[in-house]
Amino acid sequence: MTDPTGFSFEITARDGAARTGLITTPRGHIRTPAFMPVGTQATVKGMYMDQVKALGADVILGNTYHLMLRPGAERVAALGGLHQFGGWKGPILTDSGGFQVMSLAKLRKLTEQGVTFASHIDGSRFELTPERSIEIQGLLGADIQMQLDECVSLPNDRATIEKSTHLSLRWAERSKRAFETQPKGRALFGIVQGGDIPDLRVESAKALTDMDFPGYSIGGLAVGEPQAVMLAMIETVMPHLPDAKPHYLMGVGTPDDLLGAVACGVDMFDCVMPTRNGRHGQAFSRFGKINFRNARHAADPRPIDEASSCPAARDYSRAYLHHLIRTEEMLGSMLVTWINLAYYQDLMAGARAAIAAGRYADYAAEVREGWARGDI
Ligand code: GUN
Repeated sequence: MTDPTGFSFEITARDGAARTGLITTPRGHIRTPAFMPVGTQATVKGMYMDQVKALGADVILGNTYHLMLRPGAERVAALGGLHQFGGWKGPILTDSGGFQVMSLAKLRKLTEQGVTFASHIDGSRFELTPERSIEIQGLLGADIQMQLDECVSLPNDRATIEKSTHLSLRWAERSKRAFETQPKGRALFGIVQGGDIPDLRVESAKALTDMDFPGYSIGGLAVGEPQAVMLAMIETVMPHLPDAKPHYLMGVGTPDDLLGAVACGVDMFDCVMPTRNGRHGQAFSRFGKINFRNARHAADPRPIDEASSCPAARDYSRAYLHHLIRTEEMLGSMLVTWINLAYYQDLMAGARAAIAAGRYADYAAEVREGWARGDI
């Protein structure tokens, strides 16, 4: 699928419903399945951009909500755009802001037109409409942009989920229209909503497919439902999304969630978990989760994992990481963040190789066995 406008997706191998491939953007390639480190404030917290690149990340995420509040989209544009401002040269995907307004902003008022809210920083008032969200993402210079949507928490009642799903579909149309004036080569994704209600999920996926987006996000998951419900919703929507377009599962998840979703045909992920948990001293490893606040590491001279691709996992003792986390030294947060992002990137690199070799189920089983064996 080569698109002369500069955005395309090619699937290079399949294994069951899992696929591996390559998204092409004018700013470079994205190998899929891909994990996108979260760079909310034009920074992947605690990491240099060169380090993020060296881990094998092809794309990072930015946030409309945070950047519109501070330093402001017009200012970022005047400073050359988000790539120039933050020093990330590769593709950037931005979220549209609605999800963050719902979770962070105060005094929210949702209407057909959009959402007005008070900034969580200083209380100043803002309005986000589908048109303004796309304008902001355009000013930031995002390569892959998201429609404005509304995401409801779960559990919730059918009437609320239905109303919200239909509003998101109307906002998808407005977002698409607003996107038409942007430079060629950028892509706008529609976002499937529908909560945990299968017929609403199917309705949302079909309606967005009719609108013909270059990629499809699955939103409204990992918002309080069990993992089995999340995977069931992904399986419900997949047959109704174009197979040849990228599928992005928003805001997910644990390493186990990623393995499960890749098996259902998801191509892209983002989540704050490796960076946020890393800052608080929780590492992800092939032995499972390791909490460095725990006193059992205090006198342990061994590194986390001598076989890791990440220097921080090989070159520092568990005792030292424990000490840095307990004393709240910033290096502790930086090292564990580095370890976690390396683990997530390696997990996806392993998935890509396994799909290409036709052994994805074995790969997922082996990785899960490592977690089950636990820390040695
Ligand atoms: N991030 C995680 N979930 C969602 C969602 O449903 N919508 C948007 N826009 N962003 C998300």
